[in-house]
Amino acid sequence: MPDPQHGDHQHERSRQGRRNGPRRGRSGGPRRPPRPADPARTAAFRALMAVESEGAYANLALSEALSHAQLSPRDAAFATVLVDGTARGQGSWDAILEAASGRRPQDLQPAVRVVLRMACQQILATRVPLRAAVDSSVNLARRQIGERVTGLVNAVSRRIGRRDLPGWAGELATGDELTDLALLSCHPRWITAEFVQRLGIEEAARALEADNLAPVPTLVVRPGLAELSELLECGATGCLYSPYGATRPGNPADVPAVAQGRAGVQDEGSQLVSLALARTAQAAGTSGPWLDLCAGPGGKAALLAGMAASDRRLLVAAELHPHRAAMVREALAPIPGDHQVLTADGRRPPWRPGSFAAVMADVPCSGLGSLRRRPESRWRRAAGDITDLQTLQKELLAAAVDSAMPGGTVGYVTCSPVVSETLDVIAWALANLEVDLLDTPAALPEVTGAATGPQLRCLQLWPHRHGTDAMFCALLRRR
Ligand SMILES: C[S@@+](CC[C@H](N)C(=O)[O-])C[C@H]1O[C@@H](n2cnc3c(N)ncnc32)[C@H](O)[C@@H]1O
Repeated sequence: MPDPQHGDHQHERSRQGRRNGPRRGRSGGPRRPPRPADPARTAAFRALMAVESEGAYANLALSEALSHAQLSPRDAAFATVLVDGTARGQGSWDAILEAASGRRPQDLQPAVRVVLRMACQQILATRVPLRAAVDSSVNLARRQIGERVTGLVNAVSRRIGRRDLPGWAGELATGDELTDLALLSCHPRWITAEFVQRLGIEEAARALEADNLAPVPTLVVRPGLAELSELLECGATGCLYSPYGATRPGNPADVPAVAQGRAGVQDEGSQLVSLALARTAQAAGTSGPWLDLCAGPGGKAALLAGMAASDRRLLVAAELHPHRAAMVREALAPIPGDHQVLTADGRRPPWRPGSFAAVMADVPCSGLGSLRRRPESRWRRAAGDITDLQTLQKELLAAAVDSAMPGGTVGYVTCSPVVSETLDVIAWALANLEVDLLDTPAALPEVTGAATGPQLRCLQLWPHRHGTDAMFCALLRRR
Protein backbone atom coordinates (compact mmCIF):
# COMPACT_ATOMS: atom_id res chain seq x y z
CA MET A 1 0.00 0.00 0.00
CA PRO A 2 1.37 3.42 -0.78
CA ASP A 3 1.49 6.15 1.76
CA PRO A 4 -1.97 7.74 1.58
CA GLN A 5 -0.18 11.00 2.19
CA HIS A 6 1.11 10.70 -1.33
CA GLY A 7 -2.35 11.07 -2.73
CA ASP A 8 -3.25 13.84 -0.28
CA HIS A 9 -0.09 15.67 -1.16
CA GLN A 10 -0.95 15.56 -4.87
CA HIS A 11 -4.49 16.52 -4.11
CA GLU A 12 -3.36 19.48 -2.04
CA ARG A 13 -1.13 20.57 -4.86
CA SER A 14 -4.05 20.58 -7.28
CA ARG A 15 -6.25 22.59 -4.89
CA GLN A 16 -3.48 25.16 -4.52
CA GLY A 17 -3.22 25.42 -8.31
CA ARG A 18 -6.92 26.19 -8.57
CA ARG A 19 -6.80 28.79 -5.82
CA ASN A 20 -3.94 30.67 -7.38
CA GLY A 21 -4.53 30.34 -11.10
CA PRO A 22 -7.29 31.13 -13.61
CA ARG A 23 -9.78 28.29 -14.24
CA ARG A 24 -10.92 28.76 -17.79
CA GLY A 25 -9.75 26.20 -20.37
CA ARG A 26 -11.36 24.84 -23.52
CA SER A 27 -14.22 27.32 -23.33
CA GLY A 28 -11.98 30.01 -24.73
CA GLY A 29 -10.44 31.81 -21.74
CA PRO A 30 -6.86 31.50 -20.61
CA ARG A 31 -5.78 27.94 -19.84
CA ARG A 32 -5.04 26.77 -16.36
CA PRO A 33 -1.21 26.80 -16.02
CA PRO A 34 -0.03 23.24 -16.51
CA ARG A 35 0.53 21.47 -13.23
CA PRO A 36 4.09 20.36 -12.55
CA ALA A 37 4.95 16.81 -13.61
CA ASP A 38 4.52 14.23 -10.88
CA PRO A 39 7.96 12.56 -10.72
CA ALA A 40 6.80 9.25 -9.22
CA ARG A 41 3.93 8.73 -11.67
CA THR A 42 6.10 9.86 -14.59
CA ALA A 43 8.80 7.32 -13.69
CA ALA A 44 6.15 4.60 -13.25
CA PHE A 45 4.59 5.49 -16.62
CA ARG A 46 7.98 5.25 -18.38
CA ALA A 47 8.71 1.86 -16.84
CA LEU A 48 5.25 0.53 -17.73
CA MET A 49 5.57 1.81 -21.30
CA ALA A 50 8.80 -0.19 -21.64
CA VAL A 51 6.93 -3.27 -20.35
CA GLU A 52 4.02 -2.65 -22.71
CA SER A 53 5.84 -1.68 -25.90
CA GLU A 54 9.26 -3.33 -25.61
CA GLY A 55 8.39 -6.48 -23.63
CA ALA A 56 10.74 -5.32 -20.82
CA TYR A 57 10.64 -6.95 -17.39
CA ALA A 58 8.84 -4.62 -14.98
CA ASN A 59 11.54 -4.89 -12.27
CA LEU A 60 14.35 -3.98 -14.65
CA ALA A 61 12.36 -1.24 -16.41
CA LEU A 62 11.55 0.25 -13.01
CA SER A 63 15.20 0.32 -11.86
CA GLU A 64 16.13 1.97 -15.14
CA ALA A 65 13.37 4.58 -14.78
CA LEU A 66 14.29 5.22 -11.12
CA SER A 67 17.97 5.64 -11.92
CA HIS A 68 17.09 8.39 -14.43
CA ALA A 69 14.50 10.09 -12.26
CA GLN A 70 16.52 10.60 -9.05
CA LEU A 71 13.39 10.39 -6.88
CA SER A 72 13.10 10.91 -3.14
CA PRO A 73 12.81 7.60 -1.23
CA ARG A 74 9.08 8.25 -0.75
CA ASP A 75 8.46 8.91 -4.44
CA ALA A 76 10.57 5.88 -5.40
CA ALA A 77 8.49 3.68 -3.07
CA PHE A 78 5.27 5.02 -4.59
CA ALA A 79 6.54 4.49 -8.16
CA THR A 80 7.46 0.91 -7.20
CA VAL A 81 3.97 0.18 -5.86
CA LEU A 82 2.43 1.67 -8.99
CA VAL A 83 4.57 -0.32 -11.42
CA ASP A 84 4.24 -3.59 -9.49
CA GLY A 85 0.51 -3.33 -9.01
CA THR A 86 -0.29 -2.07 -12.49
CA ALA A 87 1.77 -4.85 -14.10
CA ARG A 88 0.27 -7.53 -11.83
CA GLY A 89 -3.29 -6.36 -12.30
CA GLN A 90 -3.06 -5.76 -16.04
CA GLY A 91 -5.67 -8.30 -17.21
CA SER A 92 -8.20 -7.36 -14.56
CA TRP A 93 -7.63 -3.63 -15.09
CA ASP A 94 -8.20 -4.15 -18.82
CA ALA A 95 -11.52 -5.92 -18.19
CA ILE A 96 -12.64 -3.07 -15.92
CA LEU A 97 -11.50 -0.28 -18.18
CA GLU A 98 -13.25 -1.96 -21.12
CA ALA A 99 -16.48 -1.91 -19.11
CA ALA A 100 -15.87 1.68 -18.00
CA SER A 101 -14.91 3.01 -21.44
CA GLY A 102 -16.97 0.82 -23.75
CA ARG A 103 -13.77 0.30 -25.80
CA ARG A 104 -11.53 -2.72 -26.11
CA PRO A 105 -8.18 -1.94 -24.39
CA GLN A 106 -6.27 -3.20 -27.43
CA ASP A 107 -8.00 -0.54 -29.53
CA LEU A 108 -6.67 2.24 -27.29
CA GLN A 109 -3.33 3.91 -27.94
CA PRO A 110 -0.75 2.01 -25.79
CA ALA A 111 0.13 5.11 -23.75
CA VAL A 112 -3.56 5.76 -23.00
CA ARG A 113 -3.98 2.13 -22.00
CA VAL A 114 -1.04 2.43 -19.60
CA VAL A 115 -2.33 5.67 -18.02
CA LEU A 116 -5.76 4.10 -17.51
CA ARG A 117 -4.32 0.89 -16.05
CA MET A 118 -2.34 3.08 -13.63
CA ALA A 119 -5.60 4.85 -12.77
CA CYS A 120 -7.24 1.46 -12.06
CA GLN A 121 -4.38 0.47 -9.81
CA GLN A 122 -4.56 3.71 -7.80
CA ILE A 123 -8.35 3.77 -7.56
CA LEU A 124 -9.02 0.07 -6.95
CA ALA A 125 -5.93 -1.19 -5.13
CA THR A 126 -4.36 1.67 -3.20
CA ARG A 127 -5.47 4.31 -0.72
CA VAL A 128 -4.83 7.22 -3.09
CA PRO A 129 -8.00 9.35 -2.88
CA LEU A 130 -10.18 9.14 -5.99
CA ARG A 131 -9.85 12.80 -6.83
CA ALA A 132 -6.07 12.71 -6.60
CA ALA A 133 -5.97 9.58 -8.76
CA VAL A 134 -8.20 11.13 -11.43
CA ASP A 135 -6.44 14.52 -11.46
CA SER A 136 -2.98 12.98 -11.59
CA SER A 137 -4.02 10.59 -14.39
CA VAL A 138 -5.33 13.49 -16.45
CA ASN A 139 -2.16 15.48 -15.79
CA LEU A 140 0.02 12.51 -16.73
CA ALA A 141 -1.97 12.00 -19.94
CA ARG A 142 -1.68 15.70 -20.80
CA ARG A 143 2.08 15.75 -20.31
CA GLN A 144 2.97 12.37 -21.80
CA ILE A 145 0.41 12.05 -24.62
CA GLY A 146 -1.31 15.35 -25.29
CA GLU A 147 -4.32 17.50 -24.46
CA ARG A 148 -6.59 15.59 -26.88
CA VAL A 149 -6.77 12.47 -24.66
CA THR A 150 -7.40 14.22 -21.35
CA GLY A 151 -11.19 14.18 -21.75
CA LEU A 152 -11.21 10.42 -22.29
CA VAL A 153 -8.84 9.77 -19.37
CA ASN A 154 -10.87 12.03 -17.09
CA ALA A 155 -14.21 10.41 -17.98
CA VAL A 156 -13.00 6.80 -17.82
CA SER A 157 -11.08 7.30 -14.54
CA ARG A 158 -14.18 8.80 -12.94
CA ARG A 159 -16.29 5.87 -14.13
CA ILE A 160 -13.72 3.39 -12.75
CA GLY A 161 -14.03 5.18 -9.40
CA ARG A 162 -17.78 4.55 -9.16
CA ARG A 163 -17.12 1.09 -7.72
CA ASP A 164 -14.43 -0.58 -5.65
CA LEU A 165 -12.77 -3.81 -6.85
CA PRO A 166 -15.34 -6.18 -5.27
CA GLY A 167 -18.03 -3.93 -6.77
CA TRP A 168 -16.51 -4.32 -10.24
CA ALA A 169 -16.12 -8.06 -9.67
CA GLY A 170 -19.85 -8.18 -8.87
CA GLU A 171 -20.71 -6.01 -11.89
CA LEU A 172 -18.67 -8.20 -14.25
CA ALA A 173 -19.55 -11.53 -12.57
CA THR A 174 -20.10 -14.29 -15.10
CA GLY A 175 -21.35 -17.05 -12.81
CA ASP A 176 -18.21 -19.07 -13.65
CA GLU A 177 -16.33 -19.16 -10.33
CA LEU A 178 -12.90 -19.46 -11.96
CA THR A 179 -13.45 -16.45 -14.24
CA ASP A 180 -14.80 -14.42 -11.34
CA LEU A 181 -11.93 -15.37 -9.00
CA ALA A 182 -9.44 -14.61 -11.80
CA LEU A 183 -10.77 -11.05 -12.13
CA LEU A 184 -10.83 -10.43 -8.40
CA SER A 185 -7.36 -11.89 -7.81
CA CYS A 186 -5.74 -10.30 -10.88
CA HIS A 187 -4.63 -13.60 -12.45
CA PRO A 188 -5.39 -15.16 -15.84
CA ARG A 189 -8.18 -17.73 -15.68
CA TRP A 190 -5.95 -20.66 -16.63
CA ILE A 191 -3.51 -19.95 -13.76
CA THR A 192 -6.45 -19.55 -11.38
CA ALA A 193 -7.66 -22.98 -12.53
CA GLU A 194 -4.22 -24.54 -11.80
CA PHE A 195 -4.25 -23.16 -8.24
CA VAL A 196 -7.84 -24.26 -7.67
CA GLN A 197 -6.96 -27.77 -8.86
CA ARG A 198 -4.33 -28.01 -6.11
CA LEU A 199 -6.06 -26.13 -3.28
CA GLY A 200 -9.81 -25.86 -3.86
CA ILE A 201 -11.45 -22.52 -4.50
CA GLU A 202 -11.29 -21.02 -1.00
CA GLU A 203 -7.64 -21.67 -0.29
CA ALA A 204 -6.70 -20.87 -3.90
CA ALA A 205 -8.16 -17.39 -3.34
CA ARG A 206 -5.72 -16.92 -0.43
CA ALA A 207 -2.79 -18.28 -2.46
CA LEU A 208 -3.56 -15.95 -5.37
CA GLU A 209 -3.85 -13.01 -2.98
CA ALA A 210 -0.40 -13.85 -1.60
CA ASP A 211 0.92 -13.71 -5.18
CA ASN A 212 0.00 -10.05 -5.27
CA LEU A 213 2.35 -9.07 -2.46
CA ALA A 214 5.97 -8.41 -3.39
CA PRO A 215 8.15 -10.42 -0.97
CA VAL A 216 10.79 -8.89 1.26
CA PRO A 217 14.20 -9.99 -0.12
CA THR A 218 15.47 -13.23 1.45
CA LEU A 219 19.21 -13.54 2.01
CA VAL A 220 21.20 -16.75 2.37
CA VAL A 221 24.59 -17.31 3.93
CA ARG A 222 27.14 -19.42 2.10
CA PRO A 223 28.00 -22.23 4.54
CA GLY A 224 31.60 -21.94 5.65
CA LEU A 225 31.89 -18.32 4.49
CA ALA A 226 29.39 -16.40 6.61
CA GLU A 227 27.28 -16.86 9.72
CA LEU A 228 23.57 -16.10 9.99
CA SER A 229 24.42 -13.73 12.89
CA GLU A 230 26.16 -11.43 10.38
CA LEU A 231 22.85 -10.94 8.57
CA LEU A 232 20.92 -10.46 11.80
CA GLU A 233 23.39 -7.79 12.91
CA CYS A 234 22.51 -5.88 9.74
CA GLY A 235 18.83 -5.74 10.68
CA ALA A 236 17.69 -8.96 8.98
CA THR A 237 15.14 -11.30 10.59
CA GLY A 238 15.89 -15.01 10.64
CA CYS A 239 13.75 -17.15 8.30
CA LEU A 240 11.02 -19.29 9.82
CA TYR A 241 12.57 -22.60 8.71
CA SER A 242 15.90 -22.29 6.91
CA PRO A 243 18.96 -22.15 9.17
CA TYR A 244 20.78 -20.31 6.37
CA GLY A 245 18.25 -17.59 5.58
CA ALA A 246 17.05 -14.20 6.78
CA THR A 247 14.77 -11.53 5.33
CA ARG A 248 15.69 -7.88 5.15
CA PRO A 249 13.87 -4.99 3.43
CA GLY A 250 16.01 -2.73 1.28
CA ASN A 251 18.92 -3.27 -1.03
CA PRO A 252 20.66 -6.63 -0.32
CA ALA A 253 23.97 -5.16 -1.53
CA ASP A 254 23.95 -2.89 1.54
CA VAL A 255 24.74 -5.98 3.63
CA PRO A 256 28.56 -6.43 3.67
CA ALA A 257 28.39 -10.26 3.53
CA VAL A 258 26.26 -10.02 0.37
CA ALA A 259 28.47 -7.36 -1.21
CA GLN A 260 31.51 -9.58 -0.52
CA GLY A 261 29.88 -12.72 -2.03
CA ARG A 262 29.81 -14.56 1.32
CA ALA A 263 26.02 -14.40 1.30
CA GLY A 264 23.51 -14.09 -1.51
CA VAL A 265 19.84 -13.59 -2.30
CA GLN A 266 17.71 -16.74 -2.44
CA ASP A 267 14.09 -17.52 -1.65
CA GLU A 268 13.66 -19.63 1.47
CA GLY A 269 11.87 -22.32 -0.57
CA SER A 270 14.99 -22.82 -2.70
CA GLN A 271 17.09 -23.08 0.45
CA LEU A 272 14.73 -25.67 1.92
CA VAL A 273 14.67 -28.00 -1.09
CA SER A 274 18.49 -27.93 -1.23
CA LEU A 275 18.59 -28.71 2.47
CA ALA A 276 16.09 -31.59 2.03
CA LEU A 277 18.27 -33.22 -0.64
CA ALA A 278 21.52 -32.71 1.29
CA ARG A 279 20.10 -34.04 4.57
CA THR A 280 18.62 -37.12 2.89
CA ALA A 281 21.76 -37.88 0.91
CA GLN A 282 23.94 -37.45 4.00
CA ALA A 283 21.63 -39.70 6.05
CA ALA A 284 21.79 -42.39 3.32
CA GLY A 285 25.54 -42.49 3.89
CA THR A 286 26.33 -43.10 0.18
CA SER A 287 29.82 -41.85 -0.55
CA GLY A 288 30.52 -40.10 -3.81
CA PRO A 289 30.16 -36.70 -5.45
CA TRP A 290 26.96 -34.70 -5.85
CA LEU A 291 25.53 -33.32 -9.10
CA ASP A 292 23.37 -30.27 -9.81
CA LEU A 293 22.01 -31.15 -13.27
CA CYS A 294 20.34 -27.81 -14.16
CA ALA A 295 22.44 -25.39 -12.19
CA GLY A 296 22.12 -21.93 -13.78
CA PRO A 297 22.31 -19.30 -12.38
CA GLY A 298 23.75 -21.21 -9.42
CA GLY A 299 21.72 -20.37 -6.31
CA LYS A 300 21.09 -23.97 -5.24
CA ALA A 301 24.52 -25.08 -6.48
CA ALA A 302 26.17 -22.52 -4.17
CA LEU A 303 24.26 -23.82 -1.16
CA LEU A 304 24.81 -27.48 -2.12
CA ALA A 305 28.54 -26.82 -2.70
CA GLY A 306 28.83 -25.37 0.81
CA MET A 307 27.06 -28.40 2.30
CA ALA A 308 29.09 -30.83 0.16
CA ALA A 309 32.31 -29.14 1.30
CA SER A 310 31.49 -29.98 4.93
CA ASP A 311 31.66 -33.68 3.89
CA ARG A 312 34.70 -33.10 1.62
CA ARG A 313 32.65 -34.08 -1.41
CA LEU A 314 32.93 -32.84 -4.99
CA LEU A 315 29.94 -30.92 -6.38
CA VAL A 316 29.54 -30.98 -10.17
CA ALA A 317 27.23 -28.30 -11.57
CA ALA A 318 25.97 -28.71 -15.15
CA GLU A 319 24.15 -26.09 -17.21
CA LEU A 320 23.07 -26.11 -20.86
CA HIS A 321 23.59 -22.46 -21.71
CA PRO A 322 27.17 -21.12 -21.65
CA HIS A 323 26.18 -17.69 -20.32
CA ARG A 324 24.28 -19.31 -17.44
CA ALA A 325 27.17 -21.73 -16.80
CA ALA A 326 29.35 -18.60 -16.44
CA MET A 327 26.92 -17.35 -13.78
CA VAL A 328 27.25 -20.67 -11.94
CA ARG A 329 31.05 -20.34 -12.03
CA GLU A 330 30.76 -16.88 -10.53
CA ALA A 331 28.35 -18.12 -7.82
CA LEU A 332 30.65 -21.01 -6.88
CA ALA A 333 33.94 -19.06 -7.07
CA PRO A 334 34.02 -17.97 -3.41
CA ILE A 335 32.80 -21.33 -2.02
CA PRO A 336 35.55 -23.38 -0.40
CA GLY A 337 35.91 -27.05 -1.32
CA ASP A 338 35.86 -29.01 -4.50
CA HIS A 339 33.48 -28.04 -7.30
CA GLN A 340 33.39 -28.15 -11.04
CA VAL A 341 31.10 -26.41 -13.55
CA LEU A 342 30.29 -28.05 -16.90
CA THR A 343 28.45 -26.58 -19.85
CA ALA A 344 26.46 -29.65 -20.84
CA ASP A 345 23.05 -30.87 -21.92
CA GLY A 346 21.85 -32.84 -18.90
CA ARG A 347 20.00 -35.19 -21.27
CA ARG A 348 23.29 -36.21 -22.97
CA PRO A 349 25.67 -36.15 -20.02
CA PRO A 350 29.43 -36.29 -20.48
CA TRP A 351 29.80 -38.34 -17.25
CA ARG A 352 29.30 -42.09 -16.76
CA PRO A 353 25.90 -43.37 -15.57
CA GLY A 354 25.70 -44.08 -11.85
CA SER A 355 28.42 -41.56 -10.91
CA PHE A 356 26.72 -39.51 -8.19
CA ALA A 357 25.52 -40.09 -4.63
CA ALA A 358 23.00 -37.24 -4.93
CA VAL A 359 21.52 -35.44 -7.92
CA MET A 360 19.51 -32.21 -7.90
CA ALA A 361 17.18 -31.93 -10.93
CA ASP A 362 15.83 -28.38 -10.60
CA VAL A 363 14.24 -28.49 -14.01
CA PRO A 364 13.07 -25.63 -16.25
CA CYS A 365 9.42 -24.99 -15.41
CA SER A 366 6.61 -22.50 -15.80
CA GLY A 367 7.78 -20.52 -12.76
CA LEU A 368 4.17 -20.11 -11.60
CA GLY A 369 5.47 -20.61 -8.06
CA SER A 370 7.28 -17.27 -8.09
CA LEU A 371 4.71 -14.96 -9.66
CA ARG A 372 4.96 -12.59 -6.69
CA ARG A 373 8.53 -11.72 -7.77
CA ARG A 374 7.81 -10.99 -11.42
CA PRO A 375 4.76 -8.76 -11.66
CA GLU A 376 4.05 -8.96 -15.41
CA SER A 377 4.98 -12.61 -15.98
CA ARG A 378 1.51 -14.10 -15.32
CA TRP A 379 0.18 -12.24 -18.38
CA ARG A 380 3.01 -13.32 -20.66
CA ARG A 381 2.53 -17.07 -20.27
CA ALA A 382 0.06 -19.44 -21.81
CA ALA A 383 -1.21 -22.84 -20.72
CA GLY A 384 0.47 -24.40 -23.79
CA ASP A 385 3.95 -23.40 -22.52
CA ILE A 386 3.56 -25.91 -19.68
CA THR A 387 2.53 -28.80 -21.91
CA ASP A 388 5.68 -28.21 -23.97
CA LEU A 389 7.87 -28.30 -20.84
CA GLN A 390 6.72 -31.70 -19.54
CA THR A 391 8.70 -33.71 -22.10
CA LEU A 392 11.93 -31.89 -21.15
CA GLN A 393 11.15 -32.32 -17.44
CA LYS A 394 10.71 -36.09 -17.85
CA GLU A 395 13.89 -36.39 -19.93
CA LEU A 396 15.91 -34.47 -17.36
CA LEU A 397 14.50 -36.50 -14.47
CA ALA A 398 15.31 -39.74 -16.32
CA ALA A 399 18.87 -38.46 -16.90
CA ALA A 400 19.16 -37.48 -13.22
CA VAL A 401 18.13 -40.98 -12.12
CA ASP A 402 20.55 -42.51 -14.62
CA SER A 403 23.36 -40.31 -13.24
CA ALA A 404 22.71 -41.45 -9.65
CA MET A 405 24.44 -44.54 -8.29
CA PRO A 406 22.19 -47.35 -6.96
CA GLY A 407 21.00 -46.18 -3.55
CA GLY A 408 21.68 -42.58 -4.58
CA THR A 409 19.20 -39.76 -3.88
CA VAL A 410 17.56 -37.66 -6.60
CA GLY A 411 15.70 -34.41 -5.90
CA TYR A 412 13.12 -33.42 -8.52
CA VAL A 413 12.36 -29.72 -8.01
CA THR A 414 10.19 -27.11 -9.72
CA CYS A 415 9.28 -23.58 -8.78
CA SER A 416 5.69 -24.39 -9.63
CA PRO A 417 2.63 -25.96 -8.07
CA VAL A 418 1.17 -26.98 -11.45
CA VAL A 419 0.11 -30.65 -11.43
CA SER A 420 1.38 -31.49 -14.92
CA GLU A 421 4.95 -30.45 -14.07
CA THR A 422 5.00 -31.78 -10.50
CA LEU A 423 2.80 -34.71 -9.44
CA ASP A 424 2.24 -35.95 -13.01
CA VAL A 425 5.99 -36.12 -13.66
CA ILE A 426 6.54 -38.01 -10.41
CA ALA A 427 3.70 -40.45 -11.23
CA TRP A 428 5.37 -41.03 -14.62
CA ALA A 429 8.78 -41.56 -12.94
CA LEU A 430 7.37 -44.10 -10.47
CA ALA A 431 5.82 -46.03 -13.35
CA ASN A 432 8.79 -45.87 -15.73
CA LEU A 433 12.07 -45.46 -13.83
CA GLU A 434 13.89 -47.68 -11.33
CA VAL A 435 13.10 -45.42 -8.36
CA ASP A 436 11.22 -45.32 -5.08
CA LEU A 437 9.60 -42.20 -3.72
CA LEU A 438 11.11 -41.20 -0.37
CA ASP A 439 9.24 -39.41 2.40
CA THR A 440 10.28 -35.93 1.31
CA PRO A 441 8.46 -33.93 4.05
CA ALA A 442 10.29 -36.07 6.65
CA ALA A 443 13.54 -34.43 5.51
CA LEU A 444 12.15 -31.09 6.68
CA PRO A 445 10.29 -31.90 9.92
CA GLU A 446 10.32 -28.21 10.87
CA VAL A 447 8.03 -27.39 7.93
CA THR A 448 4.37 -28.31 8.42
CA GLY A 449 1.48 -28.24 5.98
CA ALA A 450 3.62 -29.08 2.95
CA ALA A 451 3.04 -32.81 2.42
CA THR A 452 1.28 -33.74 -0.82
CA GLY A 453 1.09 -36.38 -3.55
CA PRO A 454 1.26 -40.18 -3.28
CA GLN A 455 1.09 -41.15 0.42
CA LEU A 456 1.87 -37.50 1.15
CA ARG A 457 5.50 -38.18 0.18
CA CYS A 458 6.06 -35.06 -1.92
CA LEU A 459 6.59 -31.53 -0.64
CA GLN A 460 4.76 -28.44 -1.87
CA LEU A 461 5.53 -25.06 -0.32
CA TRP A 462 3.16 -22.11 -0.71
CA PRO A 463 3.52 -18.35 -0.25
CA HIS A 464 0.30 -18.09 1.77
CA ARG A 465 1.20 -21.03 4.07
CA HIS A 466 4.97 -20.85 4.36
CA GLY A 467 5.93 -17.38 3.13
CA THR A 468 8.11 -18.98 0.43
CA ASP A 469 7.79 -19.35 -3.32
CA ALA A 470 5.57 -22.29 -4.30
CA MET A 471 8.45 -24.77 -4.67
CA PHE A 472 7.77 -28.46 -5.27
CA CYS A 473 10.22 -31.20 -4.30
CA ALA A 474 10.10 -34.99 -4.55
CA LEU A 475 13.04 -37.05 -3.30
CA LEU A 476 13.59 -40.36 -5.07
CA ARG A 477 15.97 -43.22 -4.39
CA ARG A 478 17.51 -45.10 -7.29
CA ARG A 479 16.97 -48.82 -6.84
C1 LIG B 1 14.99 -23.70 -12.83
S1 LIG B 1 16.48 -23.25 -13.51
C2 LIG B 1 17.63 -23.80 -12.32
C3 LIG B 1 17.84 -22.83 -11.18
C4 LIG B 1 19.07 -23.17 -10.38
N1 LIG B 1 19.05 -24.50 -9.88
C5 LIG B 1 19.29 -22.21 -9.22
O1 LIG B 1 18.87 -22.50 -8.09
O2 LIG B 1 19.90 -21.15 -9.43
C6 LIG B 1 16.71 -24.44 -14.77
C7 LIG B 1 18.03 -24.32 -15.51
O3 LIG B 1 18.14 -25.45 -16.36
C8 LIG B 1 18.82 -25.06 -17.52
N2 LIG B 1 18.57 -26.09 -18.56
C9 LIG B 1 17.58 -26.14 -19.47
N3 LIG B 1 17.69 -27.25 -20.22
C10 LIG B 1 18.76 -27.92 -19.76
C11 LIG B 1 19.41 -29.12 -20.13
N4 LIG B 1 18.96 -29.87 -21.15
N5 LIG B 1 20.50 -29.51 -19.46
C12 LIG B 1 20.99 -28.75 -18.43
N6 LIG B 1 20.43 -27.59 -18.05
C13 LIG B 1 19.33 -27.18 -18.69
C14 LIG B 1 18.25 -23.70 -17.82
O4 LIG B 1 19.10 -22.99 -18.67
C15 LIG B 1 18.14 -23.11 -16.43
O5 LIG B 1 19.31 -22.42 -16.12
